[in-house]
Amino acid sequence: MKKIMWTVMVLPAALSMSVAVQADTDVSKASQAQVAQHLAPGFRAPKDNEFVHVPPTMADLDEADLHPELKKVIRKGHDLFVNTQQLRGVNVFNSMNCSSCHMGEGRLPNAGPIWPAAVTLPDYRPKNDHVNSLEERIAGCFMYSMNGIPPAYGSDEMLALSAYHQWLATGVPLYQPGKSMYGRGYARLPDPEQTPDTQRGAKLYQAQCAICHGEEGQGLSQYGKVVFPALWGDLSFNWGAGISRVFTLAAFTKQNMPLGKPNSLTDQEAWDIAAFVDSQERPQDPRYTGDVTETRAKFLDTFHKHTQYGTEVEGRLLGDHDSTGEKPALPEGSLRHRTFEFGESR
Ligand code: HEC
Ligand code: HEC
Repeated sequence: MKKIMWTVMVLPAALSMSVAVQADTDVSKASQAQVAQHLAPGFRAPKDNEFVHVPPTMADLDEADLHPELKKVIRKGHDLFVNTQQLRGVNVFNSMNCSSCHMGEGRLPNAGPIWPAAVTLPDYRPKNDHVNSLEERIAGCFMYSMNGIPPAYGSDEMLALSAYHQWLATGVPLYQPGKSMYGRGYARLPDPEQTPDTQRGAKLYQAQCAICHGEEGQGLSQYGKVVFPALWGDLSFNWGAGISRVFTLAAFTKQNMPLGKPNSLTDQEAWDIAAFVDSQERPQDPRYTGDVTETRAKFLDTFHKHTQYGTEVEGRLLGDHDSTGEKPALPEGSLRHRTFEFGESR
């Protein structure tokens, strides 16, 4: 217990390292690069051709020259982002907050910073094979990562969350940064030297992760608050979530976990742990056709070739069930597929 108390303390400490910086215009590129590294200890320096952005903080918002109504909405978006559990049972059906995976309030490089979405969308997205808006991108994380049902497009929640994304992108030019944004996503690790091994991963998991995430990956909630989110099982992200891809899970783990000790695992260890975590059960992929082998085949190229869903691991066919965890079964047609056939009457 003592250990857990200590580790909980790590969180605010890590966040307080984020030096309050005004929007880009006030800061030279060099000092931005320094701050960006400071935000993410142990990471490589940005390359010359990479766009570096240090998102503003909530303290900066107090000072910003924006309409008070807008500030109110941005604050609500921040609140929803770091305490998404307030939507539990309505839009969220697991133990995640957005900030469980987008760490440092969505500001940290190499921990899925969210500002790039606000300056690159609308854009084509291979996962669903059409052009997505920012709201639809947010809906995607509700659907899969939160095992949820997204708030309606245009709702107060969507507006607030979008406003918070855009606030973090203050000063970033639209589109221009292209694909070279320092710290975007979870920087992919080099391919593993040895094939990732679930048994090696299981041992490492017990030694490095179980103290917080639990021996059964169930996480920990206390007094109705999530302290440690679940890594698998009913309270975790579902089989369609981006982080269920082994390479994403490995990259996230290496660069962010164990909490407070980023970059302490070797690449191979991160791959092994990711293979192990990904070999455990979790709620069904919302794109499920009723048959796991068929669903795997249908989304193989764009997604499941990176997961163990629909494969047999230690005698178990992963994903061969129709449990949606805490979430009521999805209403028919809830995964709206957009097509744009301009010129056709509608
Ligand atoms: C279980 C982990 C997890 C949770 C929880 C989660 N996300 Fe994500 N999110 C991801 C992953 C993985 C990606 C893809 C990152 C990449 O490109 O490699 C992503 C991408 C995004 C992006 C696009 C970022 C970019 O670079 O364009 C946005 C925006 C986003 N998430 C918003 C949210 C919001 C809002 C919530 C809460 C409603 C949320 N996410 C919850 C894992 C998560
Ligand atoms: C000291 C406690 C602690 C340890 C040890 C730890 N984590 Fe975490 N982990 C957290 C917390 C807390 C979060 C949520 C991040 C936040 O809210 O800032 C998290 C988030 C995550 C997430 C994203 C959310 C989710 O539940 O899927 C993954 C994946 C993860 N950890 C994997 C690991 C792995 C793998 C290890 C072992 C290498 C590990 N963690 C060790 C505390 C810990």
